Amino acid sequence: MEPVSVENVVFGPFGQCLPSLVQGGDRAFAVVDSAVADRFAPVLDEFGVEWMAFRASEERKSFEGLQEIAGWLLEHEADRGALLLGIGGGVTTDLTGFAASVYKRGIRYALVPTTLLAQVDAAVGGKTGIDFHGCKNVIGTFSMPEAVCVDTAVLASLPLEELRSGMAEALKTLVIGDAAMYREAVERMRGGMERLGDNELSALVRRCVGIKSGIVAADRTEKGERMKLNLGHTLGHAAESVCLEAGRPVTHGEAVAAGIIAAAAVSWKKGVLDRSLAESICNDLKSLGYSDIPGLLSRHAGLREEEIAPKLSEFVLNDKKRNKDFINFVLIRGLGSVMAEVLDVNELQGIIHDLY
Ligand code: GLY
Repeated sequence: MEPVSVENVVFGPFGQCLPSLVQGGDRAFAVVDSAVADRFAPVLDEFGVEWMAFRASEERKSFEGLQEIAGWLLEHEADRGALLLGIGGGVTTDLTGFAASVYKRGIRYALVPTTLLAQVDAAVGGKTGIDFHGCKNVIGTFSMPEAVCVDTAVLASLPLEELRSGMAEALKTLVIGDAAMYREAVERMRGGMERLGDNELSALVRRCVGIKSGIVAADRTEKGERMKLNLGHTLGHAAESVCLEAGRPVTHGEAVAAGIIAAAAVSWKKGVLDRSLAESICNDLKSLGYSDIPGLLSRHAGLREEEIAPKLSEFVLNDKKRNKDFINFVLIRGLGSVMAEVLDVNELQGIIHDLY
């Protein structure tokens, strides 16, 4: 496959992307998720890239993980000319990007996302970060990678749960930017996500990367346009946190899908989306096996019907995107058209109580 570039994303096998990254004589280092280390080790060794295996987990996307990487770089005398590669899912790409952006005040880095979620979202757009005090990505930087090498062939061995999680982010991106491809993707996914072949996955990832790259190019540091990418994340994140607190976590994508269903309902309540389209988005996602927020909260957090709205309201009040009495919320106007709005927290809480 000929590598094709969209912004700084290069599509193609890793072995074809690596030579142009390591040319020039500077030393190259890689942080590789242990789960994929066997797959990448031969190519890294062939090109003289020094690498460390990293046991990736959300808990290790932390100062502890940063210390491990920075300590290893120091031990190996990585200097300011070094290139750091991050190879793995979103945890590895976020953490490696963060380490690169602060090590010796910033060294060059490139990412090789190996999950669908990281390919369509986490690794694209230069957001890096770690979790701290229970808040996701609360410490981080905007720092563009030199390149993102995307090879959809690696998705063939992805567990179904991770494929489903990434598909929710892909659908989110299509709701934001491509109505026709959204409809087509839902139809194809109904046949079973695990049955999608490399051509279909590759077309999906390319389109999502194209949509996201366009948005990021217009607003790298999320002052306006980029907020659209948070579609489904306000209430989805609340549901994710409640389930995590209850000890029965859901994947990020399952929470985002529930958040998109909720965003469609809030958009209808706000009068910006037809009721029939809100219902059809809800039916699409449910037909793919995703739950709505009450479904997630009752199944994973054991909440009774009357406990759902108060619990969500409580989380909305504590949301990190809240600014005094207001909260950023992405509304859906139609398929392929969304808008970031500043909602009054009281109003959103009222809508939550109406809906649930
Ligand atoms: N994941 C949303 C963004 O990159 O802005």
